[in-house]
Amino acid sequence: MTWLDNDTAAALRKDFANALAPTHTSAWRDAFASVPRHAFVPSFYAQGPDGAWKNVGPDDAGYLEAVYSDRALTTQLDERGIPTSSSSEPSVMLAMLDALDAAEGDTVFELGTGTGYNAALLSHRLGEQNVTTIDVDPDLTGAATQRLADAGLHPFVGTGDGAGGWPDRAPYKRLIATAALRAIPDAFLKQAAPGAIIVTPVGYGILRVAVTAPGHGTGWFLPTPAHFMPRRTPSAPPAFAEAEAAEPTTTATAPGDVLGRLRFPLSLALPGHTTCSWRGEGGELAAVGIWTEDGSTATAHVSGKVRQVGPRRLWDVVDTLAETFVDEPQRQEFHVSITPDRQTVWYRTQDGPSWDLSQPW
Ligand SMILES: C[S@@+](CC[C@H](N)C(=O)[O-])C[C@H]1O[C@@H](n2cnc3c(N)ncnc32)[C@H](O)[C@@H]1O
Repeated sequence: MTWLDNDTAAALRKDFANALAPTHTSAWRDAFASVPRHAFVPSFYAQGPDGAWKNVGPDDAGYLEAVYSDRALTTQLDERGIPTSSSSEPSVMLAMLDALDAAEGDTVFELGTGTGYNAALLSHRLGEQNVTTIDVDPDLTGAATQRLADAGLHPFVGTGDGAGGWPDRAPYKRLIATAALRAIPDAFLKQAAPGAIIVTPVGYGILRVAVTAPGHGTGWFLPTPAHFMPRRTPSAPPAFAEAEAAEPTTTATAPGDVLGRLRFPLSLALPGHTTCSWRGEGGELAAVGIWTEDGSTATAHVSGKVRQVGPRRLWDVVDTLAETFVDEPQRQEFHVSITPDRQTVWYRTQDGPSWDLSQPW
């Protein structure tokens, strides 16, 4: 393979790969040491203290150091300045690739081509002919195909909703998503080879599922926290003005818990929700907002006042979780059972607290 590379980048990349996995040898670490991330992230967006985005490229100080650090790098913004694609945090990529437990020759499907970097790592390790990667955005798949070809790699890159898989190239022994899903898509289960492994962000965690029979699987969440971009779906904006006018109730749950200890279970109980916070002049938390795509909105002030509007009472869900979990629950204590009819997450034991993952597709 010939890479567009230089000594500085190569030296930084070697240190970067060693720092990613200092205590264990991983075949994936070798892939990180070989594949030049900078070729897939020719520039990225960095947010300044005033919130404005700045494009950072090879001519800017610190560009290469940022590319060869354990940072997620935003690579695409929409017209409102909201990130729509990124190169994920390398240590999280490594944790997901390790969990995939793939060997050379395994066929793999990836939802979320993005920059093409993960597809390059997969191609390097498993063989380009075994990799199928899909992104919903044709600009991204076009650019990624070119970058992969420049690097001498030719996996199959397709454009479409990756939740449908890519039936023409199925079955897959391994399936990975690099955008957050709400559940394992039916198409993944249908296109999985017997004994396949699926690794995907669900909410703010990473779920690893072994397919045990057609349509059936069992799995658990990795300990690694995850903050992936959600799979793109249409959604209503938050109804803050309407909430402001609503009659308040009171809560015993600290609003900050939504951003801290309850963050992960809330992502299972209210799939696809979004949160925001308001802060005082000293930076202290004043209130939090939470909303879902159907327009349901809740705000909670540190005084204990809560306002809720829309079809679902979101803060009631927060209060229930606050009663269920006294401390911050560990992700790896959440398990998943999948049948063709249901995908159930359960905490610690199968008769413990549980949630059905919603399946909107
Ligand atoms: C975190 S980025 C992926 C990072 C990528 N694997 C890399 O190595 O650069 C998430 C990607 O998921 C894509 N995405 C979002 N919804 C999707 C969908 N329904 N189907 C396929 N791709 C989707 C986004 O366009 C975005 O590029």
